[in-house]
Amino acid sequence: MDNSQLLDTALRAMQSAYAPYSHFHVGAALLTESGEVYTGCNIENAAYSCTVCAERTAFFSAVRDGHRKFTKIAVVGGMNGEISSFTYPCGVCRQVMREFCDDGFVLLFTDGKNVRELTLADLLPYSFSPANLDMEV
Ligand code: THU
Repeated sequence: MDNSQLLDTALRAMQSAYAPYSHFHVGAALLTESGEVYTGCNIENAAYSCTVCAERTAFFSAVRDGHRKFTKIAVVGGMNGEISSFTYPCGVCRQVMREFCDDGFVLLFTDGKNVRELTLADLLPYSFSPANLDMEV
């Protein structure tokens, strides 16, 4: 799957966002090392802290199915689903990514006009990872 297909998949996933409180809709499309794609959307809750981001929805679905290695994720978001700026992952999602991805993991974003490509090392330098606990995922 190429970058534009992955971004299109994230855009479609955004349509499932449940965001009645913030009205900020997010979609994610996560590519496994073996080539499968898992999607996610944000799911909010009246008890706000129960909210889960689109990225974690995608990661946890993939891990549930036994995947542990990932190469790329596309993330899109905007108020009421209108894409007008790049949507970067929150700190919690960056740390969840670090559990299963190395520095070279690629993240794709769009503001509706341009595509931006970054790595996990760009977004989470000097991170705490399974290696700190002598763990290999
Ligand atoms: N959100 C995501 O799903 N992913 C991000 O990368 C940033 C924020 C969600 C959480 C919440 O439902 C809404 O966006 C506003 O914070």
